[in-house]
Amino acid sequence: YFDNGNEIFKDARKNHYAVGAYNTNNLEWTRAILKAAQETKTPLLIQVSMGASKYMGGYKFVKDMVADQMDSMGITVPVILNLDHGDYDAAVECIKDGYSSVMFDGHNLPTDENLAKTKEIIKMAHERGISVEAEIGKIGENQGAQGGELASVEDAKTFVAAGVDKLACGIGNIHGVYPKGWKGLNFDRLKEIANAVSVPLVLHGGSGIPEDQVKKSITMGIAKVNINTEFQQAFQAATRKYIEDKKDLDTANKGYDPRKLLLPGTEAITAAMKEMTGWLGTPSID
Ligand code: G3H
Ligand code: ZN
Repeated sequence: YFDNGNEIFKDARKNHYAVGAYNTNNLEWTRAILKAAQETKTPLLIQVSMGASKYMGGYKFVKDMVADQMDSMGITVPVILNLDHGDYDAAVECIKDGYSSVMFDGHNLPTDENLAKTKEIIKMAHERGISVEAEIGKIGENQGAQGGELASVEDAKTFVAAGVDKLACGIGNIHGVYPKGWKGLNFDRLKEIANAVSVPLVLHGGSGIPEDQVKKSITMGIAKVNINTEFQQAFQAATRKYIEDKKDLDTANKGYDPRKLLLPGTEAITAAMKEMTGWLGTPSID
């Protein structure tokens, strides 16, 4: 049902474009993202974090929701369903539940243990044709102001030799809103890693990175760009406007109905994703 993305991301790295990896948070998010992919005729990676899965009702629920929406919306572009930043148990569960891609995020573990667990996940996943992403170094966290840690070239080689299909590298990128005074992406390290390994590289924390840096990273080997915060902010701004315009108080038009209240935000996600698809240079399938 879902594409594992292996060919798509290999082609992306080879031809210097990227495919967006967008987090879903609920039903509206899922529809908004699928709609943008179908309208731009571009492949889509839709992903769910452990927290968002818990919020929605579990990995199987999310998978069924995405699949059913694809059917009801008549989606014809390839869709990759990915677990985002999963721990070991989450990765195992998603492999069993029929996800086509999992990210096992063992960056908090000692490197040896991260590698050993990554290998176990790779074995289980590859037996079923499922793609695996691993994380090396550390993506910074704006919330809690945890700094990132640059990925080492040595780790990149080791994890690729172990069989990972995609590699997320800490290169100065940060999840959430970028703090003032952020130094920017470390292109020197990206270059070293890209020269050492040929797998598609993943840029996490894609929200809020200036367009020129996103584009430059794609010319250097980034083939998957993860975006979550930016769409949350697009949704938030459009919803705020609806409420500030007092449309929710318009009882004659049932402005309080969630189907109306959530619509501007949902449309804003689709618009933001279409713009991002242009930045990434994702080619249309026709
Ligand atoms: O794994 C998810 C992404 O790295 C999202 O990061 O919320 O900063 O866009 P972001
Ligand atoms: Zn991430």
